[in-house]
Amino acid sequence: MERILILDFGGQYNQLIARRVRECEVYCEVHPYTMPVEDIRGFSPIGIILTGGPNSVYEPGAPQVDPEVFALGIPILGICYGCQLMAQMLGGQVTPAQEDSAREYGKTATWYDQSSPIFRGLPEKSVSWMSHGDYMARVPAGFRLTAHSAACSHVAIADETRRFYGVQFHPEVSHTEYGTQMIRNFLYEVCRAHGTWSMADYKGTAIRQIQEYVGRGKVLLALSGGVDSSVCAALLAEAIGSQLTCVFVDHGLMRLNEGDEVQAAFAKWPMKFVRVNAETRFLTKLAGQSDPERKRKIIGEEFIRVFEEEAKKIGAVDYLAQGTIYPDVIESGAGAAAVIKSHHNVGGLPDHVEFKAILEPLKLLFKDEVRQLGRELGLPEYLVSRQPFPGPGLAIRIIGEVTKEKADLLRQADFIFRDILTKTGQNQCLSQYFAVLTNTCSVGVMGDGRTYDHTLALRAVTTDDFMTADWARIPYEILDQISVRIINEVKGINRIVYDITSKPPATVEWE
Ligand code: XMP
Repeated sequence: MERILILDFGGQYNQLIARRVRECEVYCEVHPYTMPVEDIRGFSPIGIILTGGPNSVYEPGAPQVDPEVFALGIPILGICYGCQLMAQMLGGQVTPAQEDSAREYGKTATWYDQSSPIFRGLPEKSVSWMSHGDYMARVPAGFRLTAHSAACSHVAIADETRRFYGVQFHPEVSHTEYGTQMIRNFLYEVCRAHGTWSMADYKGTAIRQIQEYVGRGKVLLALSGGVDSSVCAALLAEAIGSQLTCVFVDHGLMRLNEGDEVQAAFAKWPMKFVRVNAETRFLTKLAGQSDPERKRKIIGEEFIRVFEEEAKKIGAVDYLAQGTIYPDVIESGAGAAAVIKSHHNVGGLPDHVEFKAILEPLKLLFKDEVRQLGRELGLPEYLVSRQPFPGPGLAIRIIGEVTKEKADLLRQADFIFRDILTKTGQNQCLSQYFAVLTNTCSVGVMGDGRTYDHTLALRAVTTDDFMTADWARIPYEILDQISVRIINEVKGINRIVYDITSKPPATVEWE
């Protein structure tokens, strides 16, 4: 299979580079910049992309690739840090930008030399997204300049003989108007790719591989109903049918009708579907608990216990399957970020389940590819395009202590919120939206009587990566419709507020 190697220097857009490459129907993998040159040879890429990163190439100890990478005869595209690194390692010079003029950030008008393969077919001038404080003061021998901005003459370099290309800007972000076209040019014009990566083909290949690997073995999967575990279940069900057992633990903190929907989606496969209705068990454990992290931990641990008990009934299995996806396994070139919340769906791997090996059939796919695969497998759209839902479920959307009454109240209100957003088409513009029971009661008046009922908060955000998020500007008329319907239909809520904080400083969830 033809593939591109992306060497990661820790830039924030690096996964986006990989997604763009795959959108151009070329398979790629992201590996740390420390990948030894023998491994790079073994990977036999048709091209290498050096990513951006937070360092400056002239700092002592700045990350570098093995210099032999430049002697492999493989085309290379350097992006931002990757471009500067290539320039420096091949004999050029990179310095801090002296005048403000060469330090560029944001959308920048750029002129391209259309005779260079990377810029073939592009307009002479368009917008690129810059984010650099360094300057390629001297380009290495053999390279020529192929793009400039008003402030900087050294925006892109190319050595067409060796097929080395570098850009100071980020072609992978959507703000670079013709960025995907540039990546496509690198893949097809420079690396001579044929574009063999498609989801329909991948489905067939993955099914064959699973069948060969599993043989007549038994596979067990903990199905949460989220996109990843659902697609994993469907793929395995398609490949090995009745050799698959899915355990679906319903902790009673799902959204309205969710458990039934998940179960219905898998009815067409001959797999074994075990649904454990464990609401009482989880609520008993959660009684009296109001600390968010404690609630998460209780749910994670209890989930493992319930799963283990069910697994014991099934007996020894050969494989334990998991819906791990590619962003979970990419070893980043950058350091670890601070932990704000422990985002664990489950408390780790079960200790008491017997299995020979772990099976992770989605671990090469990005989220949007997982959704695409789900569609190829015929999963219903409500599962495939589902918004993220935290493992601990409504427990972290009920501030303070969790009770069945509160969960039922929240479920109803949350359903109405989602229903109106879907019917008005607003959901298309939102990344995540849900209701929160705030643990605050306030005075109201209904009919002629005084009420003292719950305050509900509505949260809706837009984001690309959930690391940062903006609160969604839902039109007032629609918010009004939502408010009126919830107050009318859900007894026990008499006040509704809309959350207008972005992340940071807030987080998406309230707990
Ligand atoms: P925050 O609240 O950290 O959320 O801004 C970012 C994204 O992560 C989801 N989230 C969780 N997912 N277990 C999960 O599986 C958790 O404990 C958890 N907490 C937050 C949240 O829904 C959002 O999509």
